[in-house]
Amino acid sequence: MSVNFKPATRMSRLGTETAFAVSAECAALAAKGRKVYPFNLGDMNIKTPQNIIDAATKYMNAGKTGYCASGGIAELREALAEDVGNARGLKYGIENVAIQPGGKPIIGKFLMSVMNEGDEVLYPTPGYPIYESQIEFHQGKGLPYGYTEGEKDFKINLEQIENLITKKTRALIYNNGQNPLSCESDEKEMKQIAKLAIDHNLFVLSDEAYFDIRYSGKSKSIASLPGMQERTVILYTFSKKFAMTGWRLGGAIGPKEIIDQIIKLNVNDESCSPHFLQWAAIDALKGDQSGHKEIVKVLKERRDVAVRLLNDIDGIRCYKPEIAFYLFPNVTQAVHRLGYKKGKEELARFRVDVLQKTGVSFCTRDHFGKRLPTEDQEYIRMAFSGINVDQIEEGLGKLKKFVEG
Ligand SMILES: Cc1ncc(COP(=O)(O)O)c(C=O)c1O
Repeated sequence: MSVNFKPATRMSRLGTETAFAVSAECAALAAKGRKVYPFNLGDMNIKTPQNIIDAATKYMNAGKTGYCASGGIAELREALAEDVGNARGLKYGIENVAIQPGGKPIIGKFLMSVMNEGDEVLYPTPGYPIYESQIEFHQGKGLPYGYTEGEKDFKINLEQIENLITKKTRALIYNNGQNPLSCESDEKEMKQIAKLAIDHNLFVLSDEAYFDIRYSGKSKSIASLPGMQERTVILYTFSKKFAMTGWRLGGAIGPKEIIDQIIKLNVNDESCSPHFLQWAAIDALKGDQSGHKEIVKVLKERRDVAVRLLNDIDGIRCYKPEIAFYLFPNVTQAVHRLGYKKGKEELARFRVDVLQKTGVSFCTRDHFGKRLPTEDQEYIRMAFSGINVDQIEEGLGKLKKFVEG
């Protein structure tokens, strides 16, 4: 570079998704002709249902190619208000919806709307790394709360979360159907979290990216508990439900006062989300749902195979999630037996060794935020959204050989 460039100081506060670096390692390995088993990917190798693709093509041809309203076209806002409301037993109107280019932008926009400089925000760890990045970038203070591994899944450490709250705590980020844990609150836990939010007057971002990717039971939103709708913004995305990750379409759904601020940010950031995609999204919500059902069916088969094979590896245990598409196996025994010591660096060494020797690629716990001092187990994250059943079988066979020797 010819001029002496130094990034603006604020950029040092902005984090990233370190999981993307794992994808780059995989690409480098594949470029050398090596076979890679991509359990690291949070992306999907499943095609968007044909009726939605046909709708997008139709609307593009029909000239829905110019700018549109910054909050989204009225027809989609209305359809999403109805769809999200019906699924959660709530009533929303068009004024409660701001269409977004994906679910991710809602995180920063929510924080910019409710959090002042120096305000504290509770967020999950392990968790989606963008929460921490956006809190710090906008000069808030992140308060990470943790989970403990139970019999069947992970539970929020409620005592710890309560002890973190101070007079400066302004908001809580809650991701039920969690990335990377794929865990969800039972009724009691959700009620306790809601009580904390109400007692301490917190605004809540309920990240519901995986609400519709479920294998049994019924999803529930914290917004549906008494006293919560008026303080909760729901992060909705088309990405996972309809395998539309690359389309970039989502919506913030919540109190009008916050949604108005988010729309003001839309005007300044992207002007509007892609016009013809918004029309196609109405078809996604109201049209034939067999494509969505097929997506869940494919994912369920992968989940069943992956969980069975992981639990068949000596020193690895993995529970079977009913939501989302991540597995978070406990690998403590396996890594220690292989001679890796405790902690982040050693777990990273295990990951790289497995990748180099077997081509099996995954993320570790440390790709999802800072460890809390209470954490003493080692975990990896294996996504089954971007890998077919035969490759799951082949890859986990290789992992078994590596671990069991
Ligand atoms: C928990 C969580 N929230 C939000 C998102 C954002 O998804 P998108 O921007 O594709 O809608 C993701 C993506 O992986 C996620 O895992």
